[in-house]
Amino acid sequence: MSDPTHGYERHAAAFIAGRNRPGAAIGVAEVRAWARDLPRDAAVLDVACGSGVPITRALVEEGHQVFALDASPAMVAAFRTNFPRLPVACEPVETTTFFGRSFDGIVAWGLVFLLPEAAQRVAIQRMVSALGPEGRLLFTAPAPACEWVDVLTGEPSRSLGAAAYRDLLHAEGLALLGEYDDEGQNHYFDAVRRRGTGRFSRPADRILERLEIDAAEYETERRGQDVGNERARHLAEGGSDDDADGQVEHIALADKLLELGNESHDSFLLRLRLD
Ligand SMILES: C[S@@+](CC[C@H](N)C(=O)[O-])C[C@H]1O[C@@H](n2cnc3c(N)ncnc32)[C@H](O)[C@@H]1O
Repeated sequence: MSDPTHGYERHAAAFIAGRNRPGAAIGVAEVRAWARDLPRDAAVLDVACGSGVPITRALVEEGHQVFALDASPAMVAAFRTNFPRLPVACEPVETTTFFGRSFDGIVAWGLVFLLPEAAQRVAIQRMVSALGPEGRLLFTAPAPACEWVDVLTGEPSRSLGAAAYRDLLHAEGLALLGEYDDEGQNHYFDAVRRRGTGRFSRPADRILERLEIDAAEYETERRGQDVGNERARHLAEGGSDDDADGQVEHIALADKLLELGNESHDSFLLRLRLD
C-alpha cells in the first residue's frame, strides 16, 4: 500500500482548515444523537479521527471514554494537540490492533469509501470484530453504488451501495438499526451487534432470542430507509423516540406465543410478515 491515508496525509492541513471552519460541523448532530444512545461512559473508538474536530470532540462532550486512530501522522499530530489526554494510534484500519480491546461503539466518519472495495470489506469486518456484546457501529458511505474522485485529494473513492453494506453487516452478525442522511448528504449506517448464541442456556430463551432478532430485522426490512428519516422528523417536531415500542410489542407477542405454546417460530414469522 503506497499511501495508507489515500491522499489525506498530503492534504492534512487543507482538510483540517476546511473541517474547522465555523459552520463546518457536518455530522455532529447525527454522531451526538448516536452517542446518546450508548450506555453511560461507554468506550467509543473514532476510526479515521482526523484532527478530532468535530467528531471526537462531540463524543467526548457526550461523556464517553474516547479512543481514536488515524493512518495519517499529520492528522494524529493535530489530534494530539487538540486532545493531549486521549489515547490515539497512528495506524491504518486495515492493520490496527484496536488498542487490544473491544468497544461499546465505533464510529468511522468519512473513511469507508476512501478504501478499495476489498479493503472496505476488511475494514468493516475488523471494526465489527472490535465491538463488544451489543456494540454499535456507525459509518458513512453514499447509499447508491458509485465511484468519484475526491475533490481534495484527487484520489478515487467508491461506495459499494447500501444493499452491499447491508448484506455485509448482516453477514457479520449485525442488525441494521437505521440509515439516515445529514445536512451534507452523508449517508449513515447505524448497526448493532446481535446477541450471540450461547448466552442463553434454556431452549425457550434461544427461541425467543431468534424471534427477537427476526422481529427487529423484519421491522428494519419493512420500513427500510424510512426508519431513520421518520424518526429524525418526529424528533425534530419535538416527539419522543417511540421507535423501540413496535419492536418491544413484537417481542412481547413472541413471548406470549411461546408461553401459550400454540404457535411455532415459522408460523409466527409468517403471520408477522403477512400482517
Ligand atoms: C474525510 S477525512 C475524515 C476525518 C474525520 N473523521 C472527520 O470527520 O473530520 C478521512 C480520514 O481518514 C483517514 N484515513 C484514510 N485512510 C485511512 C486508513 N486506511 N485507516 C485509517 N484512517 C484513514 C485520513 O487520514 C483522514 O483523517
